[in-house]
Amino acid sequence: MDLVSARMRASLKGKHVSGAERIVLPDDIPEVLKELLNRPKNYDSLIVTLERLGSVETFKAFLPVSSYTFSSVEEAREFALSKLIVAGVPESVARRAISLLSEGANPKGGNMRGAVLMDINSGERLEPDRERGIRTVRVDWENRRDVKERILSKGYTERTLDALALANKNILCGVVAELCWSDDPDYLTGYVASKKTGYVRITPLKEKGDPLGGRVYFIPKEKTGEIIRCLEKRAILLRW
Ligand code: COA
Ligand code: AMP
Repeated sequence: MDLVSARMRASLKGKHVSGAERIVLPDDIPEVLKELLNRPKNYDSLIVTLERLGSVETFKAFLPVSSYTFSSVEEAREFALSKLIVAGVPESVARRAISLLSEGANPKGGNMRGAVLMDINSGERLEPDRERGIRTVRVDWENRRDVKERILSKGYTERTLDALALANKNILCGVVAELCWSDDPDYLTGYVASKKTGYVRITPLKEKGDPLGGRVYFIPKEKTGEIIRCLEKRAILLRW
């Protein structure tokens, strides 16, 4: 099948404010562009990339979604810790990841432009560039409209739709577990995802107004190269 990756990124005063991706048939590009162009609330630069994909593999999404709400960030983070341990992350490594995201994983301060890769056994950081990190790209839902309807009907958000696609691809690429919370100061729900736990939404993983967020992918160090190639290059469509 002849498919195209349509990617949009927007920035305001030099800061990334919005990013999104779709994998679609060439005929659907005008409609998708309309949708992507309407996504950022405000920007001074918006860049769209259209890329014809060679081969696209289709997989059934396999992470069931569950959702938990707590009365404090401390309780929510302890719960995230317990889920990471269930996923196979040693407690000391899981604690390291939580404090890394809470302090800002970019050594120059603030957020990274992608995810931290963390050795699941030692907690060592493996991403070649600690300000950039690694981004998961070339992934989408096969029948996005239907999946969106189902996710929204369960009371989840469109963010969940996108993050769930990302998390499924990550696991397919060999990531053992993922921890995420947004850098949006108003979005307090994060998640732990792994084969053993499924996709576990957790609220609130940070305090309202906190601009720090990020992702940590727990991986076996010896697979770093192949996992990076898969996350960045392998095109994957997910079936619900
Ligand atoms: N955060 C911060 N900066 C970003 C960025 C992001 N997510 N994505 C791109 N940029 C900026 C960076 O400066 C980057 O340079 P770098 O590679 O040195 O970091 C530059 O744009 C070019 O990036 P590139 O990788 O070529 O962009 P792309 O055209 O392949 O698009 C996106 C990547 C925007 C599609 C991807 O990052 C994205 O946001 N995907 C959607 C993820 C999603 O659904 N998230 C929701 C889950 S809650
Ligand atoms: P968001 O969920 O969009 O608020 O993003 C939270 C954090 O995840 C960002 O601060 C980045 O560090 C990281 N991130 C953003 N996009 C990606 C991506 N495509 N792949 C991996 N990490 C990402």
